[in-house]
This record gives sequence, structure tokens and C-alpha cells, in this order.
Amino acid sequence: MPLQGRRVLLIVTGGIAACKVPELVRLLRKAGAAVRCVMTEAAQEFVTPLTLSALSEDKVYTDLFSLTDEAEMGHIELSRDADLLVVAPATANVLARLAHGLADDLASTVLLATDTEVLVAPAMNVRMWEHPATQANMKTLRARGVQVVGPDEGDMACGEYGFGRMAEPAAILKAIESRLGAPTGPLAGRRALVTSGPTHEPIDPVRYIANRSSGKQGHAIAAALAALGADVTLVTGPVTLPDPPGVRVVPIESAHDMLTACRAALPVDAAVFAAAVADWRVASSADQKLKKTPGEAGAALELVENPDILATVAGLGEGRPSLVVGFAAETEHVVDHARAKRARKGCDWILANDVSAAAGTFGGDLNTVHLITSEGEESWPPGSKADVAARLARRIADTLGAASP
Ligand code: C5P
Repeated sequence: MPLQGRRVLLIVTGGIAACKVPELVRLLRKAGAAVRCVMTEAAQEFVTPLTLSALSEDKVYTDLFSLTDEAEMGHIELSRDADLLVVAPATANVLARLAHGLADDLASTVLLATDTEVLVAPAMNVRMWEHPATQANMKTLRARGVQVVGPDEGDMACGEYGFGRMAEPAAILKAIESRLGAPTGPLAGRRALVTSGPTHEPIDPVRYIANRSSGKQGHAIAAALAALGADVTLVTGPVTLPDPPGVRVVPIESAHDMLTACRAALPVDAAVFAAAVADWRVASSADQKLKKTPGEAGAALELVENPDILATVAGLGEGRPSLVVGFAAETEHVVDHARAKRARKGCDWILANDVSAAAGTFGGDLNTVHLITSEGEESWPPGSKADVAARLARRIADTLGAASP
């Protein structure tokens, strides 16, 4: 029972995904957790308090101004009494209210009154999820340390297709276990850092330099390390992927911010640098939108080099991770170039992949990699990015397992 003795306050808000909450409560109880539910008025349209009360074997709280509830267990105590607050499903509305600090019902008041960690499982129509307002709220919440599971991509109750489906109860349970449960697996007790995605280097407030990295490989590596029990921090540039379950996600935009976030995540046992960091940034980005001058032939941007995050971390004396892994995206002479890169960057391993247009690696799901270490090199069979991630995570576990913790 991985959650034995742990207390989860489950805040249920009003979306069709609320009908999956009874299953989540059942799974949490089976895992040993004590579950106490708070429901918004809208949530009660989809699932009854009686159902959740029966499954959680506890009272369900619905009313901010209930005299009896306040006498027994005030809204401050409700959150203080929990090891983790979980909002599932989290509607666009509750995310907006949480981002802006509104407290006009029991659910939002409890969320504002807590200093306990909060995990949200967003669920909404794809256009509501993709709306800039929701995305801005998510950015605010993530920056404040709110953890996110899902949403998944798929068919929606409204007949549309896209991101917005609530993560499955089993995935939410996994995310809760990774926050509250004692980790199991060969990497339990080990810390890992992964970078992923592109970086955005600002030109002015509305324009930036970026690249085609999707973040799929880096996110898959973070998930695979977490699945083996590691405590993982994922520092990621802007991507459209859901956060991998059970991983601490630190969103950043520029290479500079990525380096700062990586330094803050140290010390770690293993660091994997899968981000496609921009090599250059604009020397001084403009505070106001740049205007074109009529009749002028062209414009030039002055670029300066960005810090090399991999080389910086690999070159640390004290605090260097025992294993530093870099990537080499090459379009020709893949292994030769990667071997030279390993020496130049000072990392322990390089995973080299072919990103020529013919290989279809960028944005695709398949990857062919070669592992280059101090002992030599090996070519891995082509596989999905998840396969490559699982193989790398196992290899990291074997290598760290051979060293003393
Ligand atoms: O030099 P290049 O960009 O080809 O090196 C690729 C490797 O170095 C990747 O592991 C990438 O994440 C890392 N890198 C970095 N910071 C940079 C440039 C690359 O961490 N500024």
C-alpha cells in the first residue's frame, strides 16, 4: 500500500470528467490513502456527494458557509489536514480562479488558504485548453509550483478531438504516488535533471528566435527516469506536451533561464541534456515592438552566444553530477561528429541522432540513436522516443547502481 497513512484532499470541480472521480477515489483508497472530498456546486451535477462519501468513507464538503461543517472542520483545517491537494477534474474556471487568487466558494477558498502542494488534472474542451487565457493561467500556476497531470489528447465528450481530456485515474494515482509515496525501482533515492524542448530567445516583446524541437524525446526521458523511481526535475522550454507524470516541471523560455533553473536543480546524480538550446540570442532585445522603417532595405540582428548548459554542468568541479549525458543532433557523419562533441563538452555519454530531413526525427515519434561513451560506441535499434527513453533510463540505473549511492 504505497499511500498508507497519507491524506489526500480531493477537490472535484464541474466537468463531465467528474464521472471518473469515483474510480480515482477507489484507487486512492486501495493504495492506502485517506481521501476527503470537496465538491463545487457544478461538480454535484455530474457525481453525487453520496457516491464520493461512500467510496471515501468520509464526509464530503460542499459548502463554505455551513455552520456544522465549520464547527467540525473549518476550511483552513481542511487544507492543513492534507499531505496533498488534488484538483480533479480541474476546469478552466477553477484554474483561472486559482491563478488569480479568487476565493468565492469552498474549493477556491481551500486552495487559497493552503501552503500544501497542489496537483491539478485539467479537463476541458480543446479550445478552452488552448485559449491564451487558460495557457497564461497555467503558466502562472506552474511558475508557482503547482503540479500538473494531463490533459490527454483524444476524443472529447463534446464530439471534438484534441488536448483536454482529463488524465486517466490510474495516471492521476501515479502522479499522486510519486509526490507522496516512497519511490520504488532501481533509481529510488536518486535525483535526476533533464532538459527538454526548444528555447525562445526574445527579439522584442512579440518576436523570438526558436527551433523545431518538440520536446518529445526529453519529456519521454524524464518520464522513464521517474518510472524507475528517480526524483526528476524537468527544465523545459515552451512545448505543447503534457507534463510527464510524477516529474517536477520547471518551465522556462530562454537559454539563460534554463541555465539558472538547471543550477537550482543541482545536486543530482544524473543529468540528461536533451533540450535544443538556441546557440545565439539577440544582443539586446528591444523593450518595445520593433517597427519597420518604410523604404529601408533590410535590418540586421546582432547575435551573441548563449551559455552552453551541458558544458557548464559537465565542467563543474564540486556538484558535478556523476553522470552527464548530452545529445548530438547531426545531419551527417553522425557518430564521428558526436565523438568529437563528447570530448568538447566534457560529458560522460553522448546520444547521437540523425536529424536530417530524411530521418524525420524532429517532431516525429521515431528516433535512431548511437550511444557514445568512454568505452566506445553502440548503435541502438530504431525505436519510438519512448523506447529510446526507457533504454537510456535502464542504462543510467545500471551505471548508477554499480556506483555507491
Ligand atoms: O553544440 P550542440 O548544440 O550540438 O550540442 C548539443 C548538446 O548540448 C545537447 O545535449 C544540448 O542539450 C546541449 N546544449 C546545451 N546548451 C547549449 C547548447 C547545447 O545544453 N547552449
